[in-house]
Amino acid sequence: MRIREHPILDFTRGPPLKFTFNGNILEGYPNESVLAALWANGIKSLKKGGPPQGPFCQIGYCSGCMARVNGRPRVRTCLEPVSEGLIVEIEEEPLPPKVTHEAEEGKAEIIETDVMVVGSGPAGISAAIAARGEGLRVDVFERHFRPGGQLVKQTHKFFGSGKLFGGQRGFQIARRLIQDANSLGVRIHTRAPVIGWFKEGFFAVAAQDRLVLVKPRTVIVSTGAVERFLPFPGNTLPGVMGAGAAQTLMNEYGVKPGNRAVVVGAGNVGLIVAYQLLQAGVEVAAVVEVMKEIGGWLVHAAKLRRRGIPILTSHTVIRAEGKNSVERVIVSQVNDKFEPIPGTEKTFEADLLLLAVGLTPEARLLAEMGARMVWTSELGGYVPYRNKYMETSIPGVFVAGDASGIEEATTAILTGRIAGYSAAINILGPRDELLRKREEAIRELEAARMTPFSTKVLKGVGKVMLSELQA
Ligand SMILES: Cc1cc2nc3c(=O)[nH]c(=O)nc-3n(C[C@H](O)[C@H](O)[C@H](O)COP(=O)(O)OP(=O)(O)OC[C@H]3O[C@@H](n4cnc5c(N)ncnc54)[C@H](O)[C@@H]3O)c2cc1C
Ligand code: FES
Repeated sequence: MRIREHPILDFTRGPPLKFTFNGNILEGYPNESVLAALWANGIKSLKKGGPPQGPFCQIGYCSGCMARVNGRPRVRTCLEPVSEGLIVEIEEEPLPPKVTHEAEEGKAEIIETDVMVVGSGPAGISAAIAARGEGLRVDVFERHFRPGGQLVKQTHKFFGSGKLFGGQRGFQIARRLIQDANSLGVRIHTRAPVIGWFKEGFFAVAAQDRLVLVKPRTVIVSTGAVERFLPFPGNTLPGVMGAGAAQTLMNEYGVKPGNRAVVVGAGNVGLIVAYQLLQAGVEVAAVVEVMKEIGGWLVHAAKLRRRGIPILTSHTVIRAEGKNSVERVIVSQVNDKFEPIPGTEKTFEADLLLLAVGLTPEARLLAEMGARMVWTSELGGYVPYRNKYMETSIPGVFVAGDASGIEEATTAILTGRIAGYSAAINILGPRDELLRKREEAIRELEAARMTPFSTKVLKGVGKVMLSELQA
């Protein structure tokens, strides 16, 4: 299942690493997740007994990839890097995670910083660069073993000006942002999930099995988004996954997610991922879309149509079937109420069913901290109220990127910059030059939101302004 040739990505691999899975020796490669290495070796489920169940998200949210790793129970293998000699086992009966009392015993490491950034996607890294550029101490905490968020798996070229990375591909932009952050002296802590917050102003970070307490002067939450799921029979079968999860496997690790796919959703992500599947050597049987019209850019749809891929509008998935994993996908036409019309079913032989049905903001940390949240369908779900400087209802706590509402990477970079400058102003005071830089970022954000796709977002943003809460 490993991709050897790709029109855009180079998957030249060094010498393999050997690790064991349930006592069998398997091969993986440096910078590969354990889950990707298992998938490349044909292992699609880590569940013992009961109906087969596969991983859905590949980024730490669904728990469909948990295994025992070097004796540690319930490890999310999608967030764990392969290493030589690693021992991975399916858990017969998951042991409860070990509770440590390091904090009580005074053993926890304590990090004091000016700006704590949670999440290292384009929003978080841009925020960190802006704040660090003003001379502040900046610590970024990222739960994955590599920084960059979802940008590292994006292979398409970005629109927009050169100043905003126009013409560059997502993974190139991610590399550049991380280089800039490192050269400025931003401290990026990977494998460091922020797991909680205490009223006293501390944050708990489960850093590689050791507890770290962080005491920041300001906080920027840029935790990104989660892919949505759909209810239908067979939706937990291995081979059903988020479109972003397939991107992770093929674009990040060079592993084919399957051999023949059905993609649900003809928004930009569904259309782009369908094309990326073709680039990775995966056949695409069909793209199905419940709405009457294709939601994404028609230029992306045209690329698929030229390759003969049917895009079935007014259709949805009704079932996935297979013994141990997906073997076929049944779709059906829908009526005006989006109900399947009996007798219109079509069956596609496929081992992969990708759901590209939208994203939901991941802002639970802010909710836990007591930030005022509001359901805003235009922005994808629960998001915090904020002002135009990205400050939430908690003074000194900022939000950026998809955690503030689903958009895309360019706006994530800009909201990140605004949040970074705002955090700096919070600490250093309203210096003229800093205020000027923040205003420029706000103007750039307004310009970036002038596409036809931004109308909905702008409506949502209007609803979540702090002034609306106070009115
Ligand atoms: C799976 C997926 C695929 C996508 N594919 C595309 C695409 O192809 N094209 C496109 O234009 N847009 C795509 N997007 C949209 C994408 O969200 C934006 O382009 C952009 O990456 C958003 O940037 P961000 O920094 O807000 O979030 P992200 O890039 O999602 O970064 C958030 C980071 O926060 C980390 N994190 C989350 N919680 C914690 C915590 N508690 N502690 C520490 N770290 C944490 C995550 O691991 C992640 O690295 C995709 C989104 C997802 C979720
Ligand atoms: S949590 Fe690892 S695949 Fe979802």
